[in-house]
Amino acid sequence: MTTLTQKHKRIERNVTLLAVLALITVIIGGIVEIAPLFWIDNTVEEVEGVRPYTPLELAGRNIYIREGCYTCHSQMIRPFRDEVERYGHYSLAAESMYDHPFQWGSKRTGPDLARVGGRYSDEWHVQHLTDPRSVVPESIMPPYAFLAKKELKAGDMSAHLRAMYRVGVPYSKEAIEKANEDLLTQADPMASTTELEKRYPKAQVRDFDGNPDKLTEMDALVAYLQMIGTLVDFEAGEAQEQPR
Ligand code: HEC
Repeated sequence: MTTLTQKHKRIERNVTLLAVLALITVIIGGIVEIAPLFWIDNTVEEVEGVRPYTPLELAGRNIYIREGCYTCHSQMIRPFRDEVERYGHYSLAAESMYDHPFQWGSKRTGPDLARVGGRYSDEWHVQHLTDPRSVVPESIMPPYAFLAKKELKAGDMSAHLRAMYRVGVPYSKEAIEKANEDLLTQADPMASTTELEKRYPKAQVRDFDGNPDKLTEMDALVAYLQMIGTLVDFEAGEAQEQPR
């Protein structure tokens, strides 16, 4: 016992020895934590149905970020009974794997939006965003009526998709090249949609803001809202995370 105490004293009184031993301990801990990441392909398991955003959805998502919707809305249903009963199936990691930056949020002044897609009609969203209190009298959400008047200036979506590709979103070369075209196609009910749907399964094609003559920021935002949480078919029983 005495020898152990003496050894300990020696370490504590010798700053250099203490520093070297502390460093070794930290290095071992670091390796144990970090090294496994070099040998696994991905930390997120893929789930059937999850695909990158269409250019129009991506443009809508940019408006969502620009307007700070995330300051009041989360997009992350936790696996608790009260949340699942209210919002639907809890969020899977894979559902936000193509989100850069992710929109999990940290505050719920309004409800979680992770499964809002398909819950309301386009008309409801347009009305709600234009004047929230006209549909939910007690709402404290600010109005965003100007979105319906603002023409969508998405810029060059090819450059945007390429940037996403560089951070790991698997857009094909073709998808990047045709990004501007695909954006217009999705909001145009008269356009041929076979190519768009091949690239983006389950892409919803229509005029979203009730004003077919003009492509507005409202079109893009509603297109985005209507797809959130709809890609994985939880009824089909395929929603289990599949190891690659
Ligand atoms: C100041 C906080 C606040 C901001 C900012 C905000 N919201 Fe809301 N939102 C709310 C509240 C509160 C509700 C619940 C009452 C209602 O339905 O209006 C709500 C409801 C909603 C709903 C209906 C959800 C449901 O399941 O019933 C949608 C969709 C929505 N917001 C979208 C948005 C979008 C898109 C933006 C950004 C353009 C946004 N919100 C910005 C507070 C906010």
